[in-house]
Amino acid sequence: MRKIIIAIDGYASTGKSSLAKLLSSHLNYTYINSGSMYRAITYYAIRNKLIPLTKKNINSLIGLLSKIQLDYKINKSTGFSDIYLNGSNLESEIKSLEVSNYVSSVAEIPKIRKHVVEIQKSFQHKGGLVMDGRDIGSVVFPNADLKLFLTASDHIRAKRRFDELINEGYEINYDDIFNNIISRDKKDTERKDSPLIIPKDAVVIDNSKMSIIDQLNFIIKLIKSRFNF
Ligand code: C5P
Repeated sequence: MRKIIIAIDGYASTGKSSLAKLLSSHLNYTYINSGSMYRAITYYAIRNKLIPLTKKNINSLIGLLSKIQLDYKINKSTGFSDIYLNGSNLESEIKSLEVSNYVSSVAEIPKIRKHVVEIQKSFQHKGGLVMDGRDIGSVVFPNADLKLFLTASDHIRAKRRFDELINEGYEINYDDIFNNIISRDKKDTERKDSPLIIPKDAVVIDNSKMSIIDQLNFIIKLIKSRFNF
């Protein structure tokens, strides 16, 4: 059976990574969360006092890219890849609101995008890949076999994110989460370099009223009909 590349793009907190994990497990494919790379670089910038992103700090961060080693290693307890920055597992740290508040400003820097996209493209050889993000179907894998674009109402997205972070033990407030989601969407759709767009050939899924299993069933049906699986 041919192994395909599935690109999942969409607005913040539309459940892309939960769906991508479920889908990749179902198909026995590799899953890569592309946003975790931008988040890890943002974490590094915060730790190295390169925030606020003044011109000088942006140049320093770009100059340090060659010193930022990003790797994915399978976490045996979850079965999914965790992101490592220079050997340290950052899977939990990158979800903080502090990282979320700066990540879209880091992700709009063209030299950083170029660097990250090159790493992302290298996963193509794996065969059998699900990658989620903002520019996967438009820039990273414009020839992806299947492109999905997720959307959902603003409040439903904020509530999902809020619940997820509360469950992980973060002390957060709903309005901060709501505002973060709206401002990231604005930055991501308005940036000059690889903005978040709906690729022409993408299947748009509004999952405001769909469970994750509804979404999985819909996609599996789609894959069976398109690719003769
Ligand atoms: O997917 P996640 O919400 O973790 O991504 C965090 C941020 O990283 C996004 O809001 C966006 O600014 C950036 N990003 C991006 N391109 C991607 C994935 C994420 O610009 N492919």
